[in-house]
Formats: sequence, structure tokens, C-alpha cells
Amino acid sequence: MIKMNVLGIETSCDETSVAVVQDGRRVLSNTVASSLRFHKKYGGVIPEIASRMQLELIAQVAEHAIQEAGITLKKVDLVAVTSGPGLLGSLFVGISFAKALSLSLSRPLVGVNHVYSHIYANFLESRNLKLPFVALVVSGGHTSLFYVEDFHKILTLGQTQDDACGEAFDKVAKILGLGYPGGPLIERLAQRGDSKKVKFSCSGTDRKMDFSFSGIKTAVLYYVRDNTRHIYKECESQTLSCELKRDIAASFQKAVTDVLIKKSFLACRLKKTKTLIIGGGVAANSYLREKFNSAAKEAGITCYFPSKEFCLDNAAMVAGFGYQLFRKGKVDGLDLNVELN
Ligand code: KG4
Ligand code: ZN
Repeated sequence: MIKMNVLGIETSCDETSVAVVQDGRRVLSNTVASSLRFHKKYGGVIPEIASRMQLELIAQVAEHAIQEAGITLKKVDLVAVTSGPGLLGSLFVGISFAKALSLSLSRPLVGVNHVYSHIYANFLESRNLKLPFVALVVSGGHTSLFYVEDFHKILTLGQTQDDACGEAFDKVAKILGLGYPGGPLIERLAQRGDSKKVKFSCSGTDRKMDFSFSGIKTAVLYYVRDNTRHIYKECESQTLSCELKRDIAASFQKAVTDVLIKKSFLACRLKKTKTLIIGGGVAANSYLREKFNSAAKEAGITCYFPSKEFCLDNAAMVAGFGYQLFRKGKVDGLDLNVELN
């Protein structure tokens, strides 16, 4: 059978990524360049810096991905690109580059939803998962539960009413003075913390499968403020002790993981499925992976995570998902536009 090489492009946030994936599963290359170090001092991604860097890098990154894949541009059969949601200027760069490639190579173009492509990351590396299933996406911009009947039939079951899960990790890391991005820093700090030391919990929501993370972030802020004062009086130090920081990080991480498990399993019960697929940057968290897996065992559910490299933003998942959508008949024209929702 003739193999189909799909070139994927992902520029929805600070990464510039291009990948070549064969037949939706076999990753031939996945080049990721990040402008993270230019944003660090601001404590978050600055959209203008991100898009300027992407404009500068995209051609080099594409060249590298083609070379790594061991093919030439002529061997590309389809161009897939993230069309949203994400940062407007960043998406413009990826979409415009994809259009130029599609036009010059006379190959079809397909726009891909970024959040759905995080789910698809689980199908890379030749894993043959069975549809339908419940999917949880936990990233810096989104926290949503989906029921996936097929790659082109995805139903939203619930989503965050305020902050995204990754955003809460980033904000709590900032409160603790850790830096950006906060997720991996919280994870590291929490390793030696006591998760039972502080009682944090996520706020309830009117709809059972929605999420809310802004309350817990504020609870951490107040806890830190109150305990910093206390320490200030006693030890004349304005900083939290390292031990308390570790305990706060561990307690926060536990509370967030608990609510994600509870609502994902509820979704599985309601949709009568035993398969749960998780994706997005926060899914790289080892504690979360471990807790989901052990709770799933007890509940008789099977949990799937992408390998850590494919949890974070990458173009391989875009190429893979684009391939599946193309097979379902999706093709976009040169009028493909950004889709922010
Ligand atoms: O999926 P992603 O790369 O980009 C978006 O689509 O937003 O996710 C980035 C988010 C950031 O908020 C980051 O702090 C979080 O994922 N993250 C983590 C970990 N690694 C990245 N959160 C918790 N634990 C981690 N190990
Ligand atoms: Zn993402």
C-alpha cells in the first residue's frame, strides 16, 4: 500500500514545530523550537515575542523536520496545520506557511483543532486504540472532557469555567516564586512535600463535568500570605520555609489531580466506556499519571497517556490528526482562517 507522508505545523503558542508523520501513526520527525527563554522574565508568554520568533524560525524548523524524516518536500502528500485555538499572530504564521507549502507543492491542506490534536497524540507511536472513548485534555489554555465517537465526531462533555489546569499550575508557581512554566517546577518541588499538610480543594461547579481552578489558586495565595506573615513575625523572614513550599506544592497538585480523576471517571460512567484518554501539557506530570493509573485499576478503567514528548505542544499530533480528518473527507482551501474557539 502507498504510504502517506503528512507534514504537520504547530504554532498555537510559543512553540514552532514541524513534523512528518506517515499514515497518521509513524513519526518520522518532530522538530520543536521554543521561544520560552524569551518569555521567562515576564512570567508568561508574550504573544508578540512568540509570533515574531515563529516568523523567523518556521522555515528553518520545516527544513530540519524534512531532513530528519529522510524525505524531500516532493514526498509530502498532505499539509496539516493548527488553525486554532491559540494566539492569533502565532496561528497566522503557521497557517500562512502551510498555505504557501500547499500552493507551491500542489498538495491538499487541512486545518486542525489544537485541543483535539492533544487527544490524538495518544494514537501516535502505532498505538491502536479503540473508539469510542472519553478524553480529558489538560493544557495551559484548556481543561475539557470529551466524548470521542470518531475523529470527526467529538462532543464536549464539560470544560473549565475559569482558569485552565495548566494555568493554575503556572499561577501557583508564580505565587511560590518558582518561575515559568510552573507545571514542571511544581511537580519537582512536590516530590518531597507532604500532600496532606494543607487542605486545598477545587471549587464545585453547577454542571458536574465542568471544572473550576481559580478558587484553589486564590486559596493558595491566601494561605501563602497568611503563613508568610506568621513566619515574618516569628523569624523575621519574609519568605516561606522550603518545607512549607514543598507541602503547598504537593497539596495543590493532589487537589487538582483528585478533581480531574473524579470528573473523568464520572464521564466514563455516564458514557458507559472503560477507556479514558488523557492529553495536554499537564498530562506530562508523573504524579498525575501515577494517580490516574492506580485509580483506574480500581475502577476497571484503562487510562492512556501519550509519551511525555507528545503531551506538550508538537506538530506530530497535528500531522497525525490531520491525516485522520483528511481520510474522513476534510480538505481546506486557501481561504482557511484562524478558529479561536
Ligand atoms: O499543552 P501545552 O504544551 O500548551 C497548551 O496547549 O497550553 O501545555 C502547557 C501547560 C503549561 O501550563 C505547563 O505549566 C503545563 O502544561 N505543564 C505541566 C507539566 N509540564 C507542563 N503541568 C504540570 N506538570 C507538568 N509536569
Ligand atoms: Zn497545547
